[in-house]
Amino acid sequence: EQIFYITRHGESDFNVIGRIGGDADLSPRGRKYAERLTRLFRENPQTLPGPQLIWTSELQRTIHTAEGIPGPRAAVNDLNEIDAGICEGLTYEEIQERFPQEFAWRDQDKFKYRYPHGESYLDLLQRVDSVVQAILTKTQVLVVSHQAVLRCIMAYFMGTRPEQVPYINVPLHTLLVVRTNGYMFEVEQIPLKV
Ligand code: F6P
Repeated sequence: EQIFYITRHGESDFNVIGRIGGDADLSPRGRKYAERLTRLFRENPQTLPGPQLIWTSELQRTIHTAEGIPGPRAAVNDLNEIDAGICEGLTYEEIQERFPQEFAWRDQDKFKYRYPHGESYLDLLQRVDSVVQAILTKTQVLVVSHQAVLRCIMAYFMGTRPEQVPYINVPLHTLLVVRTNGYMFEVEQIPLKV
């Protein structure tokens, strides 16, 4: 049996004000999550063996979430959040106001919709493919990434139909523990109060 861990970064300053993309740092709550996560591994070595390898994205909110957890680490650009192109740094309201046509198109087909100068969920599924294969060949990896990217990664393990991928629920401040025999995947959610 193999075990690996998946989590979003702790809440960021952009999450708080509803802006997408960017490279904002953790909010005070987000920093608490980083501490809680570190403690969770430290206090449960039997049930949650510490990660032997930590993969974050290149963005500071994921790097800082994993900061206190011991082990070798790498910042992987394939784990960076979906590139929202011309909409980076905006709120959904601002997108609707400034780019109403884009907003409507995304709503109609969120899976295939590609932000101008950015990416779609379909692009992301392809981008994370090699990461997923790598997770399965290593022992006890911890992946700290972002909402859209983790929806795509979880879709592999849950067998989600493509159109449903952009709607998978990957909550903040929750550790996903995935156990597998290489064929079937069992996902346990551990929400951490912060
Ligand atoms: O709001 C956080 C975030 O990670 C954004 O950076 C990203 O654009 C968004 O979530 C992805 O979620 P959705 O595809 O539902 O807009």
